[in-house]
Amino acid sequence: MALRVAVIGCGHIGNLHADIYKSFPLVQLVGVCDLRHDRADGAAQRLGVPAFYDAPSMLQALAPDLCSVATGGYEYGSDHYQPTIQALEAGCHVLCEKPICNTIPEAEKMVECARRLKRCFGIDFNHRFTPAARLAKKWVDDGLIGEQLFVNMCMWICNPNESSPYYMIKALNPHSMDVMRHFAGDVEAVQCFCKKGPGRTIWSNMQLNLKFRSGALGHLTASYDMARGHPMERCEVAGIKGRFVLEDMWREVTLYPADCLTKQVYTNPVFGPDRYRDFGDTFRVRIQTFAQLVADGAAPEAIDGSGADGLAAQKVLQAAIDSLEQRTIITL
Ligand SMILES: NC(=O)c1ccc[n+]([C@@H]2O[C@H](COP(=O)([O-])OP(=O)(O)OC[C@H]3O[C@@H](n4cnc5c(N)ncnc54)[C@H](O)[C@@H]3O)[C@@H](O)[C@H]2O)c1
Repeated sequence: MALRVAVIGCGHIGNLHADIYKSFPLVQLVGVCDLRHDRADGAAQRLGVPAFYDAPSMLQALAPDLCSVATGGYEYGSDHYQPTIQALEAGCHVLCEKPICNTIPEAEKMVECARRLKRCFGIDFNHRFTPAARLAKKWVDDGLIGEQLFVNMCMWICNPNESSPYYMIKALNPHSMDVMRHFAGDVEAVQCFCKKGPGRTIWSNMQLNLKFRSGALGHLTASYDMARGHPMERCEVAGIKGRFVLEDMWREVTLYPADCLTKQVYTNPVFGPDRYRDFGDTFRVRIQTFAQLVADGAAPEAIDGSGADGLAAQKVLQAAIDSLEQRTIITL
């Protein structure tokens, strides 16, 4: 029987989640909900499912198996806490948008709640759900990189929104931090510098120096001030045995083996099932992977891009903010 799925939050991203569920035969989209009646009604009409105006009513009426939480709020994350807890307590597995939450104590409670209730809890870390990123991870796991030395990551987009001073750090960089942690593991220490772009009141550019628990070194450049349409993401991981460069999530990944002048390159194919057409495909694969794991009865610990990963990423970003404010290195 198909998993019964509902979506909480009907902005652009919630509609995207709902469209993906609607087109995935493994699940049945049963309802949508938004505090804004116009948004809930618009999505419901478009998708042919009932509209609700608050999460508890929908959870009680429909008893879905799985919920996407695609709310936003302050720092694009303050509205995640309450509906995630409500959905978990109603017995749902939850896929929550990034950032897990804009405050650490609430994020901790979300992870603890899912653990206590033995529910699968994932974060929409869609950037790691591409064939290129998967291949890079396999190279790491197969020992082709060897003992890691350094990780360089860049994430640059254009986002003119002015919000809290730490909006760019907290709302953009869950992705970059997750990709870095995905390949290099937990972070031990953080040092941060930031710059406000011309005319901006928020910290819209960041340089982060990192030390991973493995001893590897990390560096992250992030910006909300870059032109649209150019590359937006690059991750380089170097070790004793080899180095890879992953370009724009799905576009290309290149392995440079040590002591060998022949490199391996995976390029997004022009045709075929593995082809990524655009950023939307990262959502499609991430969401379908989560739903498939839930349908297969996977253990909550088996979730790729879990709530615990979301919390760990956010703790590094909070340490970056503390480092910026205190002008010091923060140990996690
Ligand atoms: N994974 C990605 O690549 C990616 C990209 C962009 C945005 N996002 C994330 O997606 C989320 C949504 O983004 P958006 O642009 O659609 O936001 P949005 O603010 O346009 O929409 C969020 C909607 O949630 C509703 N809402 C808030 N609290 C609610 C509650 N308790 N119950 C029901 N509805 C509630 C709001 O009324 C609003 O309509 C954000 O958290 C953002 O960080 C992720």
